[in-house]
Amino acid sequence: MPAGPEITLAQQKLVNGVTVVSTILGAKINALTVAWVSRVSYSPPLLMISIGKTRYSHEMIAESGVFAVNVLSHSDIETARHFGLKSGRKTDKFEGVRYGTKTTGSPVLAGCIAWMDCRVVSRHDAGSHTIFIGEVLDAAIKTDEATLVYDKEKIFGKTVGFARETGGRMLNYYHVKNGEAVVFDCRNHDHAEDEQGVLVYADDPESALIIAQKHEKGEIQPEYVTCGSCSKPHPVLR
Ligand SMILES: Cc1cc2nc3c(=O)[nH]c(=O)nc-3n(C[C@H](O)[C@H](O)[C@H](O)COP(=O)(O)O)c2cc1C
Repeated sequence: MPAGPEITLAQQKLVNGVTVVSTILGAKINALTVAWVSRVSYSPPLLMISIGKTRYSHEMIAESGVFAVNVLSHSDIETARHFGLKSGRKTDKFEGVRYGTKTTGSPVLAGCIAWMDCRVVSRHDAGSHTIFIGEVLDAAIKTDEATLVYDKEKIFGKTVGFARETGGRMLNYYHVKNGEAVVFDCRNHDHAEDEQGVLVYADDPESALIIAQKHEKGEIQPEYVTCGSCSKPHPVLR
């Protein structure tokens, strides 16, 4: 059964750093943003990463048996968003990103503050996620900057409630696709990150279309808001 809002909110009081976990499988490299990372053993040095079973990186790490944990700087929210809000299944998240490789070949970000290169030594089924335990084979600190701490609002933007009395529709939010603006229905929208498109917050459908056109011309950029219904971050134009 999925966690109710109280359980989720209580769990969000736990403090987590934000990392980018990368891997390599054959010629393909990929990475995702991961907050659920922890040290689990001093000797040998082991850490755990908890990876959602639907993530492309899950398939890759399960097969490659290697990953690197890149710790992000407190000022690096953009990198957390870059690797955490789209899947590498169809896109190359490393295009234009500077990185090197160490022992396992998993990418080590040039911009991280510390990295740990790991070999998977065991894996454990954990509901929606799999816990991969990695032995740290090699590691280094690059700068003394503070770590980015997971803060849902800072990374995903404000949580926007939706009106239950409208049956799940978020009034004033429009999904603009193929020149048409339809009221965003949070219950039925496609949760696949790549197919979400951009939502527009506007007074009416006509204004939504005008805002979407400004976005197409590159005049405005989306902000992220978290939907109170599905808890997913959505890029929203205003
Ligand atoms: C701040 C932040 C923290 C995240 N933490 C985790 C996490 O601990 N585990 C996880 O599986 N996904 C986490 N995600 C979601 C993945 O990074 C996201 O689904 C990503 O698009 C998956 O990419 P992939 O399909 O290329 O593997 C997080 C995302 C963000 C923005």
